[in-house]
Amino acid sequence: MTGKTLTLRLKVWRQDGPRAAGRFEEYDLPGISVDMSFLEMLDVLNERLNADGHEPVAFEHDCREGICGSCSLMINGMAHGPQKGTATCQLHMRHYRDGDEIVIEPWRSSAFPIIKDLVVDRAPFDAIIQAGGYISAPAGSAPDANSVPIPKEASDSAMDAAQCIGCGACVAACPNGAANLFTSAKLAHLNLLPQGQAERYSRTVAMVDTMEDHFGSCTNHGECEAACPKEISIDFIALMNRDYVKAQLFNRRLAGQRR
Ligand code: FES
Repeated sequence: MTGKTLTLRLKVWRQDGPRAAGRFEEYDLPGISVDMSFLEMLDVLNERLNADGHEPVAFEHDCREGICGSCSLMINGMAHGPQKGTATCQLHMRHYRDGDEIVIEPWRSSAFPIIKDLVVDRAPFDAIIQAGGYISAPAGSAPDANSVPIPKEASDSAMDAAQCIGCGACVAACPNGAANLFTSAKLAHLNLLPQGQAERYSRTVAMVDTMEDHFGSCTNHGECEAACPKEISIDFIALMNRDYVKAQLFNRRLAGQRR
């Protein structure tokens, strides 16, 4: 603990409900320890609002260690704030200076309507995951080690994709509101592994088509990769696009005929 404290001016988006008009409210917040996380700073704000008889700011969080993907704030116009590869819950106040003004908004995307204040509805992500269904690899007792040979490059890439925490920063950062980075990561962590091959192409078509029902189109801005707290590569979007094209040729169910 350093004992150093900051006085901050916060401009926070407040919105009473999905159909209510929103507005920025300003709060002066003295006595913030540089050792606090960003969410702990918001906890302090809410304790003071409660103590003064005001409505606390609604914001999402769960694990507070970069795993669950619940935290979702635009901080000074950047998804998850200024630190690369860092979720909002992992951002610490030592990156700010005394007297700083911090603008805090919810994700801005038509696919993620605001529920209240800084909380948005990310249900379209759930729809994409549900469209993917299950893999048909039989579950049972753990197989013997190395009984399914997997090239190291494939397992490394699949694990990189599996780091996606589904926070939605990619969508919020994209000028088109596209969800291609999220969808491609969720596809790649299955499509790159032997266990994911049986439904590879039907899964790709189902998830991409569902994605396109809700989100904008990718035009290669690359903002998603820059904003991603897990630094997921846009190379996975190329893999998804390749699989989608291949699916038109190889998915016998969709083609309605046998090869
Ligand atoms: S609260 Fe879980 S990732 Fe931030």
